[in-house]
Amino acid sequence: MEVTRIILCGVLTTCVCASGVADIVLSCELMEDSVGLHMSSGFPSSPATLILRDVFVDSHESLEVQSPFVPLANPDPRAIMFESNVSSFKIPNINVVLHADCNEQEVTCKISKYALKERSESDYFLVSIDVKDGAFGTLLILRAMPPADDQSSQIHMELGLPLSQTGTLLTEVSFLVFSAVNSVSAPLRGASLLSCGFNHRDMAPDEEMHIEWRQQYRGFGQKILKMAARLNDTQGGAAEVRHWSKDSSMDASQVVSEGNASVTLSNLKVTDEGAYICSVAIGPFSGQQVIKLQVLQAPSVSLSEEEKLVLKGNTAQTLSCHCRKYYPLEAKVEWLSHSPTDEEPAILADQGSMSSHQKHSDGTYSLSSRLVVPTDVAPGTRITCRVSHVALDASLSVSVLVEHPEADDYWWVLSLLVITVVFFYQLIN
Ligand SMILES: *[C@@H]1O[C@H](CO)[C@@H](O)[C@H](O)[C@H]1NC(C)=O
Repeated sequence: MEVTRIILCGVLTTCVCASGVADIVLSCELMEDSVGLHMSSGFPSSPATLILRDVFVDSHESLEVQSPFVPLANPDPRAIMFESNVSSFKIPNINVVLHADCNEQEVTCKISKYALKERSESDYFLVSIDVKDGAFGTLLILRAMPPADDQSSQIHMELGLPLSQTGTLLTEVSFLVFSAVNSVSAPLRGASLLSCGFNHRDMAPDEEMHIEWRQQYRGFGQKILKMAARLNDTQGGAAEVRHWSKDSSMDASQVVSEGNASVTLSNLKVTDEGAYICSVAIGPFSGQQVIKLQVLQAPSVSLSEEEKLVLKGNTAQTLSCHCRKYYPLEAKVEWLSHSPTDEEPAILADQGSMSSHQKHSDGTYSLSSRLVVPTDVAPGTRITCRVSHVALDASLSVSVLVEHPEADDYWWVLSLLVITVVFFYQLIN
């Protein structure tokens, strides 16, 4: 009963109104500086609500019929409700927001005034909606609709904009930039798709579009690629594309025909890590999405002794655990022992000593841990080196079996004993 859960979950009020269509109501922050509101509250933002009406829900779930969103009887007088019917404007992946509350994913929504480069009759607002774990990011530019005919409508005191009969500020979506996944990880030398797309309404057919991808890594910024085209060049044939990184690729025709500005990075290096900024500018609008890329490489783990460790009387032996060529730096190495009488392996009190990190030319690291095996370890004990690293789904273990000295050694001891006995026997005689 997926649908019932959606409706019962708290903060985010959702209403599934008819098959395939839903109203989404989000709690947002209106950034006061940007709208020129008085900071009466002393806070830089005030509460706002965003009501997205008739959101197309492309899911196979059967949606139950519910009554549509009903505005609150006594809304916060400072709060403002932005209402937008999005039935004719697809917001990709909006399902994620619809389910976020039930999946305990935090949704943030920030609204600020959007200043156009040129003078305009209309007022615009910029809305950014993000789902915390990186599953969704969208930026919307909303245009405040002109007041309905000659009906003397209420004016919002602080914004100075006319409100609808139900006290909401009616808007329509003019522009959208989104990322289907805004946090990704990929293996070293592998490839990764950084997702970015856009949509727009009422643009002149020959309007210019500019796409730019930049990388931000530890305070340094650099261009990755740039593209310029006109909206009516639907094949992207006349598009100008410039690459700064030879391992980046984007499909110009896909950009123009589908609004898909995703870029593929291949042959990934450690230095490709960081935040990628996808900027889309069409006509008077521009917007960005930030996609984080993490490069991962799992360590290869081995022990200095293979399979078994033979005890040598009273001389302590050492065992080394080598973790090679992993990224990023953080790795955890643990030593465990499992004697024949123990039910489960136990973490050793002495965790050995760690070597310092070795950094390789490809940016990966290596590390060893050296354990002095106690002389009193019971034969049959298994000593394990367990390594945890972010690139490993589960920790990796390698182990050796502790054994008694070989039978050969007994023969040697025995022969020594015989020689001694014979020696004393001769002395006595
Ligand atoms: C964009 O194109 C890539 C392939 O180039 C594809 O994997 C991705 O799903 C597309 N994104 C959208 C939102 O269509």
